[in-house]
Amino acid sequence: MNYNNLFSEINNSLNKKKAQGKVASYIPELSKVDPDKFGVHLTTIDNKHFSIGDANEKFSIQSIAKVLSLTLAYKIEGEKLWERIGVEPSGTPFNSLVQLEYNNGIPRNPLINAGAIVICDILISNLKSPKSDFLKFIRELSGNPTLDFCSRMAESEKITGFRNVALVNLMKSFNNIKNDINIVMDFYYNLCSIEMTCKELARTFLFLTTDGIDPITNKKILTESKSKRINAIMQLCGFYDEAGEFAFKVGLPGKSGVGGGIVAIHPNKYSIVVWSPRLNKKGNSKKGMRFLELFTTKTKSSIF
Ligand code: DON
Repeated sequence: MNYNNLFSEINNSLNKKKAQGKVASYIPELSKVDPDKFGVHLTTIDNKHFSIGDANEKFSIQSIAKVLSLTLAYKIEGEKLWERIGVEPSGTPFNSLVQLEYNNGIPRNPLINAGAIVICDILISNLKSPKSDFLKFIRELSGNPTLDFCSRMAESEKITGFRNVALVNLMKSFNNIKNDINIVMDFYYNLCSIEMTCKELARTFLFLTTDGIDPITNKKILTESKSKRINAIMQLCGFYDEAGEFAFKVGLPGKSGVGGGIVAIHPNKYSIVVWSPRLNKKGNSKKGMRFLELFTTKTKSSIF
């Protein structure tokens, strides 16, 4: 199937309405992004490519990177990981503190900020040079050896990261953070600052469509069981307190970021990335969600 015509058709129908939503402003550097950027890229497991708009322009992937840090930590730690992080949807905003105290400092899942911060702590304990080892891992996955952190974005987030500092301190008080909190937060802010294009991101997530084996290089990234479990976590937790809505309307495992990106995967078929920086109230891309809803509806490709 050639998806390019369908992409234009959906885009034209969405453009008939006035653009809604606001660019994230709580990270000063993110508020500088043009709100009307729009790109989509779909990569099939047999390496066919379809795209529209600004699909080759880099954007801040923010929380989408949490799936990649989870992948590396799960690969290293195995099931021991779940002694320090749950696998339940939170039903709360991504930066919420409220459940942490009731749960003795154990985050509900690895995709909310608290869970992603524990994953950073685990990677720091296990990797020789955490930041460069992590970069090496995602450079291989993306096929782009020049992928990098954006120090401007990381610094900008650090200045306003009051809630994240509260989360890491609360977890430290429960002994669920083992390393120095400044080192953990530096890793976390850098993780969130990674920039990729829609095309690179779709390529990077391809291993989750094919049971953990990268279909382009045939390299085993994860076992079949771990790959299945990461998809389950994305389905239940990838959109915070809008995970139900995404399953209901789009019906694919996926992950959003406050940079306006969304990645979604269809097992054994494709991975797709949409970038549109205007966010809804829950911090997910407004047009991105609607685009994917229409796409899976018209192609009848929800997994349900
Ligand atoms: O910690 C933060 O607030 C950001 N670096 C990441 C938040 C994010 O992308 C949540 N996603 N929808």
